[in-house]
Amino acid sequence: MSKQVTKIGVLTSGGDSPGMNAAIRAVVRTALYNNLEVYGVFRGYNGMIENDIHQMNSRSVANIIQKGGTILKTARSKEFMDHEGRKKAFNNLTDHGIDGLVVIGGNGSFTGAEKLSTEFGIPCIGLPGTIDNDLYGTDFTIGFDTAVNTAVEAIDKIRDTADAHDRLFIVEVMGRHAGYIALHSGIATGAENILIPEAETSTEEVIESLTEKEKRKKLVNLVIVAEGHNSGGANNLARIIQERLPNMDTRVTILGHIQRGGAPSCFDRVIASRMGFHAIESLMEGRYNVMVGIYNNVINYTPLEIAIREKQRVNPEWMKMVKILAS
Ligand code: F6P
Repeated sequence: MSKQVTKIGVLTSGGDSPGMNAAIRAVVRTALYNNLEVYGVFRGYNGMIENDIHQMNSRSVANIIQKGGTILKTARSKEFMDHEGRKKAFNNLTDHGIDGLVVIGGNGSFTGAEKLSTEFGIPCIGLPGTIDNDLYGTDFTIGFDTAVNTAVEAIDKIRDTADAHDRLFIVEVMGRHAGYIALHSGIATGAENILIPEAETSTEEVIESLTEKEKRKKLVNLVIVAEGHNSGGANNLARIIQERLPNMDTRVTILGHIQRGGAPSCFDRVIASRMGFHAIESLMEGRYNVMVGIYNNVINYTPLEIAIREKQRVNPEWMKMVKILAS
């Protein structure tokens, strides 16, 4: 499939992530530089189905690089999962003459893009926009750096009060299927235990490690748990620990959606700009249905079907290191 693209659509889809606006800005301005018309598809695939599609110019993306959220809004669309929904969406794209698409989002968003491309032949480019950092084909996703720094700032504050009271704090961070936020924020804050969905840990193991630390008079303990860990999350874990270790003064904090908001870090703004720029370059060069990623600081392209199928794996060495450093 190699045809000259003339009008592109850009959308954000799935959970928003800080830096999406920087990516939209880069896509719009690089497209205009290359004499392409640009249309913003609002509210993700829902907006594509409902024809919430509007032409953009250079001023549409002024003063947004520093803002969290997404000016295009986002959604998780159920209707788009059916062929009928995708057909409606494709007809709306065709009415506008849109013949190329840039989708900024995560795994679910790329699955939608891949289906649209296979069924209707529309060239798509994916940009990895998710705080979870769980996409294969890139070292970092847009938004992860900001989210993890938000978590670190909050956990540092929790450690102060944990220390003042000699308490155990169980902090739940985001990540239904991925433990990158837990792993990075846990390492950066010196957490005693880090529980991630990629590595099953029994509550018994956590209790043993806490008991052992109690014996050594290690009174301040931080457990960072990703929401998707097999323990069932912070509240469940705290309930079991309180039953088994009633002398331990235990508190729970769930960081939640605070991790998704806020001004993007410099790092996220830069990778979003680079990826957005290369999304258009890639379309212009006739390289379609790929996700633009960055490996070892070099732009690379992964076929969408592989980006969807494969997982970014956690290096087991990191887990070993966590245990040693927390002793
Ligand atoms: O995919 C990003 C993410 O923030 C996950 O870490 C989290 O599990 C999920 O989205 C929450 O989604 P929602 O905002 O739809 O509840």
